[in-house]
Parts: sequence; structure tokens; C-alpha cells
Amino acid sequence: MPDPVHILAISGSLRPASTNSATANTLVSLGPAGVQVEVFDGMGALPHLNPDDDAHPLPPTVAHLRSRLAWADAIVICTPEYAGGVPGSLKNLLDWAVGGGELYEKPVAWINISASSGAAKDAHESLRIVLRYAGTVLVEEACVSVPVARDAVGADGLVADGETRRVISAALAALVAAVRR
Ligand SMILES: Cc1cc2nc3c(=O)[nH]c(=O)nc-3n(C[C@H](O)[C@H](O)[C@H](O)COP(=O)(O)O)c2cc1C
Repeated sequence: MPDPVHILAISGSLRPASTNSATANTLVSLGPAGVQVEVFDGMGALPHLNPDDDAHPLPPTVAHLRSRLAWADAIVICTPEYAGGVPGSLKNLLDWAVGGGELYEKPVAWINISASSGAAKDAHESLRIVLRYAGTVLVEEACVSVPVARDAVGADGLVADGETRRVISAALAALVAAVRR
């Protein structure tokens, strides 16, 4: 049996009822056999990046981030756009990730769940630049836009709509295929 593929999902929103976090959690429920999806749970606990603190011993929350990134064979990011860019908390996470090198040559994709077509485009364009600096491999065929409105999230906190789940599942499959290639 081949080794399981590990996927780390990161939500760029700290809202408890976030549609992006709901999408990340939905990925966990859609992981097929041989694929383990985990949602990173520590973005809000990370300190603001101070490069002088990127030294041993690392802040425990940063060590946790880097261990989960190292565990992952690929990353999927679900993020809202704030003021025309990537939310500061997600940018801070990515800045910490750059110093550790765990993202280098790692396949990465995003799922843009903005409700209106073309929304959050600037965030994803800036994310593309950040991910390039981090040395990731952007898996274009796994990057999808699929609207997830707030009322599309069920009482269980997961995306309920079947067609939306199908698109999310296909994105996950494309990312897993890129890892296995
Ligand atoms: C401070 C702030 C700035 C925002 N700026 C933008 C923006 O520039 N472009 C956009 O499309 N949406 C913007 N939004 C809307 C959010 O991206 C939108 O509400 C998103 O669905 C929230 O995702 P979540 O449910 O995962 O928290 C902004 C929201 C906030 C709170």
C-alpha cells in the first residue's frame, strides 16, 4: 500500500463562522482513502513576525506551524480578501513559513470561495506572488473558484451543497495527483 498523502488546509479567516474555514473543514470530510487532510488550527496564536525571534528556541506556536507544514505533502489555502489583499494574519503565517523552508518545492493550491465572480481576485494574485517567493509549486489545475455563501454552510459547519462539494473534491483530487506525480 502506498504511503498516505498528507494535505494541510489553511484558512485565512479567524471568524468562528468563517465560510473559508468551513471549506477547509469540508476538505477533511472529502479526503478519499489514502489521503489525510488536516486543518491548521494555530494561525491566530502566531506572534507577529520578528525575524530576530526566528531562532532557537522558536516560539512554540511557530514550531507547531512548521511541524504541520513539514508533515504536509501539499497545502491548500482558503482565504478571504481583506482590503484588496491577503489577510494580515495569513500573510504573517506565510512570512513565518518562509524562514523555516518547509514550503520550498511543496505543491500548493487555493480554493476561492468568494460569493461573487471575480471577487477576491486581488488577494489571490498577491497570494500567488507570496507563494512564489516561498518557493512553492502552485498547482494551477487544483486552484478553483466556487462560491460558498454563508447560508451554504450546514449546521455541522460543513459545506452542504452537493455540486460545491464536488468541485472542492475535484480540486483536492488534482492536488493529490500532483503530489503523486
Ligand atoms: C476588513 C475587511 C476587508 C474586506 N475587504 C474585501 C476586499 O477587499 N475584497 C472583497 O472581495 N471582500 C472584502 N471583504 C469581505 C470578505 O472577504 C468576505 O466577507 C469573506 O467572505 C469573509 O470570509 P470568511 O467568511 O471566511 O470570514 C472584506 C472584509 C473585511 C472584514
